[in-house]
Amino acid sequence: MKKLAVFASGSGSNFEAIATACQNGEIDASIEWLIVDQPEAYAIERAKKFNIPTLVLQPKQFESRAAYEAEIVKQLHEKDVEWVVLAGYMRLVGDTLLDAFPNRILNIHPSLLPSFPGLDAIRQAVRHGVKVTGVTVHYVDQGMDTGPIIMQRAVDVVDGDEEATAAAIHEVEHALYKEALQYVLHRS
Ligand code: GAR
Repeated sequence: MKKLAVFASGSGSNFEAIATACQNGEIDASIEWLIVDQPEAYAIERAKKFNIPTLVLQPKQFESRAAYEAEIVKQLHEKDVEWVVLAGYMRLVGDTLLDAFPNRILNIHPSLLPSFPGLDAIRQAVRHGVKVTGVTVHYVDQGMDTGPIIMQRAVDVVDGDEEATAAAIHEVEHALYKEALQYVLHRS
């Protein structure tokens, strides 16, 4: 069974979907850590339901991003974590973490990349007036929402309605992240 760490900054609905899938055997893996950079993130509450240990670490507690990531890497190595799964972790990953987990860091983004990278991707898509947007799961590199694409799924935009479009996207995210994870874990 593969050992994962999930990183989140906010609500953590993707984290919960992955934790549920690990619990019921849909994904052949266990979540060793939830790593959070925002002390008020709701993801922390969700972790309690699954008895998943949570580590709250903020970059401002460290003298540099490298030092922040070095502490994360140390904690991940202590639990023999093999894969890092970013799920709404709103931060660029630096070389310290990338070098410790080469081709072993995944991210999910709520658009069909390379369209609408960055923050508020759903709002960007609805405001742009595209009729179809979607979800991307990809490997992480130094860029913002760049890196080789693993899976994508299209989602229709609900007529200028950001909230309804977001709901449809989140539903697809929860399914697609499970599929993509199972796919990469099986091949590794
Ligand atoms: C998700 O929609 C995820 O795709 C997005 O943050 C949301 C987190 O939701 N990530 C990005 O925009 C990354 N650039 P969640 O906390 O409920 O899983």
